[in-house]
Amino acid sequence: MRRSSMAWVDVAATSLADGVHHVELDDGRGIALLRRGGQWWALRDVCPHQGARLSGGTMRGRVAPCLPGEEISLNDEEPVLVCPWHGWEFDVVTGRSLADPCRQRVRSYDVKVEAGRVWVQA
Ligand code: FES
Repeated sequence: MRRSSMAWVDVAATSLADGVHHVELDDGRGIALLRRGGQWWALRDVCPHQGARLSGGTMRGRVAPCLPGEEISLNDEEPVLVCPWHGWEFDVVTGRSLADPCRQRVRSYDVKVEAGRVWVQA
């Protein structure tokens, strides 16, 4: 559940390139801001495993289910953020770890685009 006291914070221009970016809030919190075309997501920029900055990671599609012997493919409709240190993967919407979604997650934030700016509720 999200805290209602969180405020919308202007974090970037919408001209930011596709990919993963680090944003520092005034209170010192780091945000990993992700963009793919017209879609935006924001996660706390700290990996719950050993504290890596997730904004140094990569975004790619989730590995699609397949049978043994079938070629592995990525589902770009379900992007994940891959931690740069040990490869843990996180759902960019919920922040949940794909390997242990019930116990391992990174905080996710709501994002909106308004007047050419990207806003994060943090
Ligand atoms: S610090 Fe992120 S997977 Fe280890």
